[in-house]
Amino acid sequence: MDLSNLKRLAGERAIAYVKEGMAIGLGSGSTVYYAIQKLAERVRAGLRVRCIPTSRRTEELALSLGLTLTDFSEVAELDLVIDGADEVDPHCNLIKGGGGALLREKIVASAGKRVIIVVDETKLVERLGAFPLPVEVLPFGWEATLRRLERLGCRAVRREEDSQPFLTDNGNYILDCHFGEIADPTRLEREIDLIPGVVESGLFLGLAERIIVGRAGGTVEELVCPSRIWLGREDSNLQPPG
Ligand code: A5P
Repeated sequence: MDLSNLKRLAGERAIAYVKEGMAIGLGSGSTVYYAIQKLAERVRAGLRVRCIPTSRRTEELALSLGLTLTDFSEVAELDLVIDGADEVDPHCNLIKGGGGALLREKIVASAGKRVIIVVDETKLVERLGAFPLPVEVLPFGWEATLRRLERLGCRAVRREEDSQPFLTDNGNYILDCHFGEIADPTRLEREIDLIPGVVESGLFLGLAERIIVGRAGGTVEELVCPSRIWLGREDSNLQPPG
């Protein structure tokens, strides 16, 4: 099975958790793409939901499929957030932001009662960090911000697209930080957050409730995350309908 099929398996499975009337956060990327397609299928069959997208790209996709969008002026909490990830460790800590949408993704995930992450099995790692950690920074003084990040033990590279600085949907830069293995993600997140000029990092810790994994054999595995319990959010009891 090729990778896109594994992504499809994981993405589509997540839609089993969607119920009538939900407010849903829609992540970004090629795995969530399949979730959004499947969601649109159910909406065409009569399901009513409202969605908040995490990127312009997802917004365009959702609108093109006829999904109803909303925003945080109307919705205080999202019933469910479905998003992808670039790396997932055994504690359900994530690296996100490969597509550059990490800031909106983190705002949306933080507003989610339930966050489901959809990945193919290549995203599962023992330790985070082989994937360079994306950090969104203000363009002003970005070189100074980069140097401060490098003092934390990485090589940081400003992301480019077509030989130009990549700009996020928020008009900021992404610095891809090559740390290698990250021994203590919690500490690193705190240290990065303290650097002036940093808008947000792609470390998503303790946010995911469940990881849906598309496996090479064509099966789908669901991992329930312990981290919600550390956050006192063990009340959620996700059960797919039927
Ligand atoms: C977007 O900025 C990212 O956080 C994506 O969620 C992540 O890169 C996963 O994308 P794919 O599903 O395309 O691998």
